[in-house]
Amino acid sequence: MIAFPGYETVIRRVYENKQEHVFEYWNDLNDSEKKNLLDDLSDVDFSLLLNLFFSAEDAGEMHFDAAPYIALPKSSDEKKEYEKAREAGDLHVRQGKVAAFVVAGGQGSRLGYDGPKGMFPVGPVSGKTLFHIHAEKIAAYSQKYGVHIPFLIMTSRSNHPVTVDYFNKNDFFGLGRDNVFIFPQNMIPSLDAQGKLILESKKSIFKNPDGHGGSLTALYTSGVLERLKERGVETISYFQVDNPLVRIIDSAFIGFHVLRGADVSSKAVKKAYPEEKVGIFVRYGNNTIGVVEYSDMPEEKTHSLDEKGDLRFSSGSIAIHLFQREFVERVTAGTDIALPFHTARKKIKALVGGVRKEVEGFKFEKFVFDALPLTEKNIVFETLREDEFAPVKNSSGVDSVESAQSMMSEQHRRWLRNRGIRVPGKTRVIEISPLVAVEQEDLDAGIKVPEEEQVYIDTNR
Ligand code: UTP
Repeated sequence: MIAFPGYETVIRRVYENKQEHVFEYWNDLNDSEKKNLLDDLSDVDFSLLLNLFFSAEDAGEMHFDAAPYIALPKSSDEKKEYEKAREAGDLHVRQGKVAAFVVAGGQGSRLGYDGPKGMFPVGPVSGKTLFHIHAEKIAAYSQKYGVHIPFLIMTSRSNHPVTVDYFNKNDFFGLGRDNVFIFPQNMIPSLDAQGKLILESKKSIFKNPDGHGGSLTALYTSGVLERLKERGVETISYFQVDNPLVRIIDSAFIGFHVLRGADVSSKAVKKAYPEEKVGIFVRYGNNTIGVVEYSDMPEEKTHSLDEKGDLRFSSGSIAIHLFQREFVERVTAGTDIALPFHTARKKIKALVGGVRKEVEGFKFEKFVFDALPLTEKNIVFETLREDEFAPVKNSSGVDSVESAQSMMSEQHRRWLRNRGIRVPGKTRVIEISPLVAVEQEDLDAGIKVPEEEQVYIDTNR
């Protein structure tokens, strides 16, 4: 057995769990590298990993029906109810009870961008990054509601320093240092096909961020939840970094959430086609509402039609939620209620026999929508895809930078048209700065769009 003063317990646990192969290069390491490896091992929960390894892919049978949802308003009564909700939401925001929360700890492997996804340039004309656009939206909402809306950013251990640096260099995009909270999520080791820890280098084991579901725990462990409580924030508006179209502060959505006393509320769009790869809102037998991943949807349910001939399971999740701060406290602060881990088979770059190569392994991740069935009350709220959802997942094709940019440009063209503002025929791409209009109604009807192919509207000129 190897030895290192002060780390006796960690070393013993590694041997007890038959993971001593992680010390294969021990004799090549200097003292600080040895310490690095042992520190890396010190927070490993071996019994959790063992459990996850042996229960991998055992989803079990699920019974569920389609979830009810608040549909877009059509009748005048529905419109009145919507208006009431909007007023309640406006008040909630104005009273400083809402914070914005972006999860940005993902690895963005499909996009193939070497850096935090939030720093990816996405503005179709301005070339502004995702972080920049989100921050300007929050600045615009803060201005509109006369409050400082806190901006919470969850990073991963690996992209944290770069993200902090980026916000520092850009002076927090005018939001004020005290209103921006950047904190890393936790990591969990991956295992190889035999259930063994994987060496990333001679002095470190391979860990991956613990999924967007880790965000609730990270809010608690970072101390941010406590800070929100001190500031009187009650509701956390959650979104993903790769959606430049997100309406970060949506007063009607917030209003329904508040008036109905929900712990969590979620936005849904109609699935574009039965096999679309989005999670689906369902109601389980015990009446709780949750999300089933497309890959777990039985074939016959994917195509099942209702009495009207419409898709029965048609409400797709777009990963936009409202969380009550108290609910997050309930499921994180010292309780044993925890979100489950999901297992994914992945190829992992490892150091094996002194050579770097890809090995088959298991990565474990939590999904934020697994919080839904833990609520006492949650609601699903319908919205339009073209208004709110343009995910940047791939570098080309479906859900790509191009598709997101064209949706952004189309949205802004629609806003201008709806406000009776002429867009010249030669204008191919158009972008409006959030500081000019974060919603259609903010646009000054007197704006003149210049006769140019690419137009960026950054002042109400
Ligand atoms: P995705 O599941 O699309 O993952 O994340 P990704 O890392 O961005 O992209 P791929 O799959 O590697 O190509 C959806 C959202 O959840 C965040 C991401 O940053 C993104 O905003 N996320 C994901 C985290 O914050 N942490 C995680 O551990 C995983």
